Amino acid sequence: MKILVLNGSPKRDNSDTMHVTRAFLDGMIEAAPQEVKTVHVIDRHIEYCTGCFTCMRNGGACIHNDDMRAILDEMLASDLLLFSFPLYCYGMPAPLKALMDRTLPLSGMAMRKAGDRYVHVGQADVSRLRFLMICGCGFPNSRHNFEPAVAQFRNMFPGDPTVITVPESPMFNAPEASSVTVPRLALVRQAGKRYAETGTVDDTLLEQIGSPMIPEETYAAIVNGGMK
Ligand SMILES: Cc1cc2nc3c(=O)[nH]c(=O)nc-3n(C[C@H](O)[C@H](O)[C@H](O)COP(=O)(O)O)c2cc1C
Repeated sequence: MKILVLNGSPKRDNSDTMHVTRAFLDGMIEAAPQEVKTVHVIDRHIEYCTGCFTCMRNGGACIHNDDMRAILDEMLASDLLLFSFPLYCYGMPAPLKALMDRTLPLSGMAMRKAGDRYVHVGQADVSRLRFLMICGCGFPNSRHNFEPAVAQFRNMFPGDPTVITVPESPMFNAPEASSVTVPRLALVRQAGKRYAETGTVDDTLLEQIGSPMIPEETYAAIVNGGMK
């Protein structure tokens, strides 16, 4: 399977979230060979969408001539788009949001009813594409935190995409936390293997992965202690 990882963390390979993403990919590779390409979005030249809708009216060409043209080609040549990003202000980091906005050429102006909502009619065939989101965050709580990012991702992409959220993510870059991060990454690897084998990850495993690695209060106390 051709996998395009869109890494939205400005920390590139040092991203806390990328520890989770790499474990997931390792699990996928354990199940079957995979062709993985990672794009560090922060390193790409991606202009902001101007909202002119030229791309939606003329068959897909954006007015900007920047790296997004190649990225769209890479997206369309992939089987799986894996969005890996840290939660920023309950959403995705701005460079990745700029990329997301610039996927507009994939859609045409016309809209159609899909169930109880409206979506744009596609200008490109994305039917073979699958979508997956992996998101880390700095707070210990998952509730009242990940919901906006998850809702946006699910609205953006069809087919009930798999979403993995992991709180307390800075611990992945803390060697002293390995007693809890190593087992957590083993669960993520298991999830990756299942995803490659079945195309889905069961809710129980997703919940385990999305739960705090250490009690919320302990984590908050450690973070607050480090501020002194
Ligand atoms: C601008 C900014 C906004 C953030 N907003 C949130 C937030 O809304 N919720 C949260 O739990 N963590 C938030 N964080 C913390 C990051 O999600 C956290 O540090 C994460 O582990 C960084 O992951 P990365 O290393 O993959 O970039 C924010 C961090 C920054 C820099």
